[in-house]
Amino acid sequence: MQIDRFEKRVLMISGALVAVFIFSMLYARSKYNDLPACIPFNKTYTEPKVTKLDDKTYQVFAVAQMWQFQPAQIYIPVGSDVDFYLTSKDVVHGFFISEKNVNMMAVYGNINKQTVKFDKPGVYKITCHEYCGTGHQNMQAEVIVND
Ligand code: CUA
Repeated sequence: MQIDRFEKRVLMISGALVAVFIFSMLYARSKYNDLPACIPFNKTYTEPKVTKLDDKTYQVFAVAQMWQFQPAQIYIPVGSDVDFYLTSKDVVHGFFISEKNVNMMAVYGNINKQTVKFDKPGVYKITCHEYCGTGHQNMQAEVIVND
C-alpha cells in the first residue's frame, strides 16, 4: 500500500510530538518528587499544629476555614523540609505558597499533602486562591523561615 509522502511526514511529526509529550511527563515525574498527594482522611489532621520531627523536618497540620488559616504563623529554621497536611472545616479553599511550587486545594473531609523545602530565609505568604466568600481576600498566613 502506498502512503502519500506528505501524509507520511504529518504522521512522523505527530508521532514525534506525542513522544516529546510523554517524555516531558516522565521527566517531570522523576525530577519533582514533591508532588501533592491525597491521603486518607483522619481526624488527627484537623487539629492545627506544627510538629518537629527532627532538626530539619517539620509537619504542618494546616486547617482552612472561612476566613482564616490555622496556624496563621509557621516558624521553621532555614533548610527544613516541611510536610504540609491540608484540610478545610467548611467550603473549598485554596492554599498557595508564594515563591514555592505549592498550589493545593483545601477540601472538607480530605487531606492533601505536599512536602516543601525552605532553603532561603524569609517570609513566605500563604494565600487562599479559591473564592470562598466575602472574607476571601483576607485569608492569609505566613511561613517565617529563620536563619
Ligand atoms: Cu478561602 Cu478564599
